[in-house]
Amino acid sequence: MAITMEELRAQFYEHLQQAHAQEAFEELRVRYLGKKGEVTGLLKNMGAIAPDKRKEYGQMVNALKDEVESSIKKRIEEAHQRELEMRIAATERYDLTLPSGLSEGSYHPITLVQREVEQIFASMGFTIEDYDEIVDDYHCFEALNIPKHHPARDMQDTYYLSNGQLLKTHTSAAQNAIMRKYGAPLRAIFPGRCFRNESTDACHENTFFQMEGIMIDENISISNLIYFMKTMLSEVFQRDVKVRLRPGFFPFVEPGFELDISCAICGGKGCPSCKNSGWLELCPCGMIHPNVLKAGGIDTDKYTGFAFGLGLTRLAMMKYGIKDIRDLNSGNLKSLDQFVK
Ligand code: PHE
Repeated sequence: MAITMEELRAQFYEHLQQAHAQEAFEELRVRYLGKKGEVTGLLKNMGAIAPDKRKEYGQMVNALKDEVESSIKKRIEEAHQRELEMRIAATERYDLTLPSGLSEGSYHPITLVQREVEQIFASMGFTIEDYDEIVDDYHCFEALNIPKHHPARDMQDTYYLSNGQLLKTHTSAAQNAIMRKYGAPLRAIFPGRCFRNESTDACHENTFFQMEGIMIDENISISNLIYFMKTMLSEVFQRDVKVRLRPGFFPFVEPGFELDISCAICGGKGCPSCKNSGWLELCPCGMIHPNVLKAGGIDTDKYTGFAFGLGLTRLAMMKYGIKDIRDLNSGNLKSLDQFVK
């Protein structure tokens, strides 16, 4: 007795279940869909079908053909996918002896900018200092004329450690130690990583780099500060950079300023990187407050000084046209690799 359509369907799925390799799928295709295939064979039963049901029967056979065809195709794709996953899993096992695939190592863009700025200041007689990332309250705040409960502490969302120490919120935290180390006159820069408990967006990160600079000598004034800043910026950007100075409040400088540069990403037109203002706060600065000099053991009758806190991360973004600050901490070699030097 001829096999029914339902029986054939069931039989096909049973065979499909058992097939795993490419050849087995091919065999199935020939067995069911070939010229002499079993589905095609169903049409031979046509004579036994009542004439008014033949059209419907023919359509059902064709539907079964399509079903068989697409089921085989689906299984082939699944088998491919499985094979691919197995291959990936095999290569993802770490083998430290394998070559990395990167032909040449690269410096991080922040390192590149940091080194460049260091060279510029070194050529102007500044020493380069390093300082801890974990500091105490005295160095980060008190020595900088920010006593306990001063509202200015709220400006810096600090990460406190359980032992009472904290992650440096700004490179100014090193000012006191460096004044005590060298005394006056003094020219020093000190780059460092800073941390603030901030929510992140295209221009804010909880981890970023600053470069602090201080210059203490007789007769230091704001014009010295502006001169050094402009010299440094025109060296970094290799052209005259548009800057503006606005009053800014920081307890450790008096007077204090915000030095902004025109946004290099949008050319000053306004974009997400500069919060649509066309300007970017790059370097808060000012004349060092006498209380800070005193805390550092400097004779305030004889000496004055300036301090600045250059945003190294922002400078790197401007210099290299990096639109999103988060790319810099991403560890994504594809984007960081472009800075091979
Ligand atoms: N330390 C300040 C900050 O990060 C910046 C600053 C440094 C301001 C030096 C003035 C002088 O917010």
